[in-house]
Amino acid sequence: MKNRVLVANWKLYVRAHRAEALAKVYAARFGEQRFRSVTQILCPSFPEIEDVAHAAKKSALLLGAQDVGLVPAGPATGAISIRDLRDLGCRFVILGHSERRALGETDAVIANKLLLVAAWGLTPILCVGETRAVRRQRKEQQVVERQLRRALRRFRGKQLCICYEPVWAISASGKSSGACSPVLANAMRRIIEHTLLGIFRHRRITVRLLYGGSVSGKNIAAYVGPEGFHGALVGFASTKTAEYATMVRAIARR
Ligand code: PGA
Repeated sequence: MKNRVLVANWKLYVRAHRAEALAKVYAARFGEQRFRSVTQILCPSFPEIEDVAHAAKKSALLLGAQDVGLVPAGPATGAISIRDLRDLGCRFVILGHSERRALGETDAVIANKLLLVAAWGLTPILCVGETRAVRRQRKEQQVVERQLRRALRRFRGKQLCICYEPVWAISASGKSSGACSPVLANAMRRIIEHTLLGIFRHRRITVRLLYGGSVSGKNIAAYVGPEGFHGALVGFASTKTAEYATMVRAIARR
């Protein structure tokens, strides 16, 4: 993993026929040498993974999944297998996204998925973040620390991305209902760094800290840089070629 990371979380924003074409455009335009300082990870929806893998194959773009099931094989109707993700070329898996937590995913399940992902040699991108109600009660630090501790207690992998995504700052199809200022985001980044020191102590592990929530070409440079986060996890804006171009250029320089 490079020092700068850009995760494109396409959610269900990109229709089937468009995902492969979009990945081809990104591979051709942003897979070149001058963008090699940025680890770029495309996370399409599950049915698109194979086509996107094919499109990105000879480029520097890497592939990630938006979640994974708890078992690699066997009687698990509707689940997504980590073995299949690995065989299709995924190197990363987003875990604990607030849109999964909202469907009932618990810290205990997320912790097990982290172990599974690391055991299969992939890198987890763990999302943490508080809801608006929690922030109103000024309990965001408590909540994020708890999410980290519960998810990572048994984690022994060597590589990890952690994304701070305040739930209230995540856009709905590009419409944002409130931005998290870089000042607030960085305050939480320092809390996360401190919590991780406590969890990992002297263990050797490469961690990249990302910010997510309404990131776009206009604001990415305010979050990512030498004094800030290593990278960003971007939803809606990562599906727009012009936005993606601005974002990757902006952080390749920083
Ligand atoms: P957004 O989504 O960039 O559209 O706010 C971020 C995310 O939830 O991954």
